[in-house]
Parts: sequence; structure tokens; C-alpha cells
Amino acid sequence: MTIPLAVAALLVGTGTAVAATGGAPGVGDPYFPLAGNGGYHVEHYGLTLRYDTSRGRLDATAVLTARATQSLARFDLDLEGLKVTGVNVDHARAAFRRDGQELVVTPRRAPSAGEEFRVTVAYQGSPKPVTDPDGSADGWIPTGDGAFVAGEPQGAMTWFPANGHPRDKSSYDIMITVPNGRTAVSNGRLVSQRTAHGWTTFHWQQSEPMAAYLATATVGRFKVEQYTTRDGIRVYNAVDAREASAAAPVLKKLPSVLEWESGLFGPYPFRNAGSIVDHAKVGYALETQSRPVYDAAPDLSTLVHENAHQWFGDSVSLTSWKDIWLNEGFATYAEWLYREQHGGDSAQKTFDSLYARPATDGLWAFPAGDPGSGKNIFAAPVYARGAMTLHELRGAVGDPVFFRILRAWAGEHRGGHGTTAQFVRLAERESGKNLDSLFTTWLYTAGKPNSA
Ligand code: ARG
Ligand code: ZN
Repeated sequence: MTIPLAVAALLVGTGTAVAATGGAPGVGDPYFPLAGNGGYHVEHYGLTLRYDTSRGRLDATAVLTARATQSLARFDLDLEGLKVTGVNVDHARAAFRRDGQELVVTPRRAPSAGEEFRVTVAYQGSPKPVTDPDGSADGWIPTGDGAFVAGEPQGAMTWFPANGHPRDKSSYDIMITVPNGRTAVSNGRLVSQRTAHGWTTFHWQQSEPMAAYLATATVGRFKVEQYTTRDGIRVYNAVDAREASAAAPVLKKLPSVLEWESGLFGPYPFRNAGSIVDHAKVGYALETQSRPVYDAAPDLSTLVHENAHQWFGDSVSLTSWKDIWLNEGFATYAEWLYREQHGGDSAQKTFDSLYARPATDGLWAFPAGDPGSGKNIFAAPVYARGAMTLHELRGAVGDPVFFRILRAWAGEHRGGHGTTAQFVRLAERESGKNLDSLFTTWLYTAGKPNSA
């Protein structure tokens, strides 16, 4: 599809035609308008990183194998901070400019719709986290002995050029070189570990599709433990020595937690698992794919939560941050179920004590299915009222159907995406009930709902 030069010149002359030939600077998520990019899908990220822990400096090359979904005279990548020293598209030098969190690339020859192309970005600098709308730090967070790396919702762009929205999922090879004595831990399988000239290179491979925010490259002085579970899942745990004694009794339970979760939700979605226990003041843990990262020794409930996300959030991904209750409500409800089935409070009791909170409580500040903005996506209504929604569903359909719904959700959307509307339809299909008013009340109606 070659356009005669004269016609191309005409097209360039009109504002709309120019916009139509460039990829959009975001996927159109109302909470994070610039997150992700339009016009292409990244099939694979090959990241080669060298992190000098004493200077906090990163030298890196990212090779993205992407497929255009439209003709791309120009396209964006998300990248915040850092200095870009060169961009190639399919071996030809490409023009680029920075515009806030967008790295705008103009290739010498525009990939056409459906075509695969390869982008190489060389970059360097001192990575820093971004501050999220709720005030938390997110992304590459330097620590005393390395970095705590967790990117939800928008921090991936602080350490690699990304199509940074969960709508785009990709496989990854992540190569991290750190000074001898440090360990660099990422997602998936450790392919190799080599030491030369005072530096050690860790090659990690995540072959199952992963959203950019779930990538990690956490660096520190870690004690490493590796084993394979009875189900054949390879476990890699990395623990900061200062957290080791507190973490040990909890990490010991990982195989039984994964077995229990597999029994409820269906087979564990990945080949690899584990934990990264850092010693950092971040204030949260993240369900980094196949291997959650904790800023300190987790308690058992947190371990259950982050690993439940492997099914709900990691394997089944969001298409919009507004649907965040599909991640946090489900992971929180997994904690309630775990307590119920391990000699603790019943889920009903947990529900009742939350429901007893007065109508003025922050829990009822906004409905779980409509947090309103990026500022609210990790607030109590999403977690607790999201879990309460599932508990109401369970009450309405009964245990056998409820657990069938959870397994069908994880199974049918495995490795892909799911929306709230799809979940509601699936629940109605499995139960044969009209659940409209239940979900409208619990997910979308402001204020404290009337319990059924
Ligand atoms: N998804 C994480 C959890 O397991 C929370 C991430 C919070 N991120 C943030 N930037 N505050 O609950
Ligand atoms: Zn969570």
C-alpha cells in the first residue's frame, strides 16, 4: 500500500490525517490517560540492564519486538526520566524526542498495519520512582543495597521504555548485571547466572504474557533458596538477611498456600513462583508476576493475597484501571477464605464486622466498581468492599456455584484479560440467576449498601 507522494503530502497537510498516521500517546484509560500507547502491541521485551549500586546508575538497552495495528509514521513509548542516547527501528536510526512521559519515535520507514518491527532503545541515568496520585512511590525505588522495583500502576516507565498499560501483555527476557555479591531478581525462570570481572549477570525469562507493571528487577544482598514443589512449580526465594528470621516461617508455607489456592482457583497459572523479601520502606507489597516482592517480611495473609493475584490480576489482567476491584477485591477475598479454612474467622464474620461500620466510614466513600480516579484505586472500598461484593455473590448463588464461578473466571481468561461486565455475565451464566441488582448495589451505588 504505497501512497503516491503528492497524496501523502496532501494528507500531511491536514491535522486529522497526521494524527491518524501516528500511534496514540495512551490507550485511553481515563485514570491514567498517557499510560500505554496506541498503534502497536509489544510481543516481547528484551531488557539488558547494568545497575551500579554504589552510584545508583543504570545503563540499559531495550529491544522491543512489536506488531503494528495501524500504519505507524510515528509512535510513542512510555519512559519517565533517564537519558535516551539512541533509538533504532529495524536497524535504521530513528528520530526521537521526549515529551513528558512519552518517548516519541519517528522511524525512517513507517511499519504498516499488521507488520512486525523491532525497536532498540539505548538509555541511561539514575532511575527514580514516580509519585502516584495517592502519594505512594512507584517504579524503580533505590534502597541502601540496590533497588526495590515494583511498577503498579505506572512505574514500569521509570526503568524501561514500555507500552505501559495492562491491556498490553508480552513475554520478557530481562538481563541484569550487578556488582558481585548483589542479587538481581526478576520474573519467571532464572536462565543463567554468570560472574566476570567483579560483576554478576542474571538472565531471567518470563515466557507467559505479562503486563509491564508486573515486571521487576529488584536488586539487593539476598539469601537465595530454590526448590520445586510437588506440583512441579519451580520456586526461587530471595530474602534480605535483615528480614530472614521473620520471613522464614511464612515463606515455608508458600507451597501449601499455592496448593490451597490451586484447589480453589484452578491450576497455578505460571511455571515459576517465589518471593522477594527486601528491607525497604515502601509501604506496600506487589504481586510481581510469578514472584511477588515484599518491602519487609510478609505476614501469612499478605503472602496469600499476593499469590492470589497470580490468578486474579496477573494471569487475568485488567483492561481498565477502573476495574481494579477484579484484582484487589479477589485477592482480599482469598485472605478471608484462607482464614475461614484454616481455623480463623469465617468470611461471614469478616464481612459482618466491616458491615457494622457506620455509613460515614471511609469504607463507603465510593463504590468498589467505580473508584472515580487513579487516586482511589488502592483505597479500602476497592479491597474490602470489593471482597464484600464477592461474599454477597457467594451468599446469593451458594458455595458450589460460587467456587465454580471463580475457577471459570481464572480458567476462561487465563493469560488474557477480563472486564467487570464479563465477570457479571459469567456469574449469571454459571448461576442461572439475574445478578444485576446485586452487582449494581455493591459495585456501583454510592454510600453504604443494604445487605441482602
Ligand atoms: N497491588 C498491590 C497489592 O497487592 C498494591 C500496590 C500499591 N501500589 C501503589 N503504588 N500504591 O495490594
Ligand atoms: Zn493486592
